[in-house]
Amino acid sequence: MAFSCAISSQGSRVEAKLRATPNRTFASHNVKGIAPPGLNCPRIAYMIEHSAGDLEQDGNMETPQRLIVGISGATGAIFGVRLLQMLQKTDVETHLIVSRWGARTLVHETPYTLEQVQAMATTFYSPQDQGAAISSGSFLTDGMVLCPCSMRSVAAIAHGHGDNLLHRAADVVLKERRKLVLVVRETPLSDIHLENMLKLSRMGTVIFPPVPAFYTQPQSIDDIVEHSVTRILDQFGIHVASGKRWQGVLSTADVPVKKPVAVKGRR
Ligand SMILES: Cc1cc2nc3c(=O)[nH]c(=O)nc-3n(C[C@H](O)[C@H](O)[C@H](O)COP(=O)(O)O)c2cc1C
Repeated sequence: MAFSCAISSQGSRVEAKLRATPNRTFASHNVKGIAPPGLNCPRIAYMIEHSAGDLEQDGNMETPQRLIVGISGATGAIFGVRLLQMLQKTDVETHLIVSRWGARTLVHETPYTLEQVQAMATTFYSPQDQGAAISSGSFLTDGMVLCPCSMRSVAAIAHGHGDNLLHRAADVVLKERRKLVLVVRETPLSDIHLENMLKLSRMGTVIFPPVPAFYTQPQSIDDIVEHSVTRILDQFGIHVASGKRWQGVLSTADVPVKKPVAVKGRR
């Protein structure tokens, strides 16, 4: 098996590409994003050479990185749209399902049509298409993100109701022990919602409410959406470049700690 590795950097932005080409199969690993402090190009090259060893052991692995993306009928369809747009800038293959109410909220909340959003994915499926590739565990994927995820979808997944392709695909991801990320949106939450989410979390599902972070000092709704989507993609090891990652600017490590002053009459 032959490997080639290309690394480019601009400031702290690093892109690394590893390609392995055995006889008839093809594998690729991509790393994109901001290099954490202490990571430089030679260090990344070293790490990638080591992951080459893993690929070699896998022998006839692997397809390009492949993600199932679901959009269900919770408010916040723009999170799903932005996720697809950000994935378009990567080599990740996207397999999209939009539920009936996902399509309704999309049109109500965003300027996009369903057709425009479907065109952002590599492949899209009807939620009724139970014969689709992603309905089977033998179709290899890196997992699934449901973004946004309604409480009805949480309940269906927590209870194994695979009666549409969105929920069947999530069921398959769970049974195959692949990564499932649910960008849940509801407020306030009932005991039913919380119990369903806890059940899924205990099975390894990542429960990811798109709660805004204000330490990034967002200037627009798009800033808030983009930050959440960046963090969602981090869950899959897809590290898109973002200038909004916390760099520890408020670190207190160097601040001398004052000794507590004894107050009269108190121990
Ligand atoms: C405008 C709008 C906003 C909604 N927002 C939410 C929400 O934030 N969370 C939620 O769980 N359901 C929400 N719903 C209700 C879901 O769309 C509804 O439960 C639907 O059956 C979900 O089905 P699905 O999971 O198959 O898409 C909303 C519905 C509408 C019309």
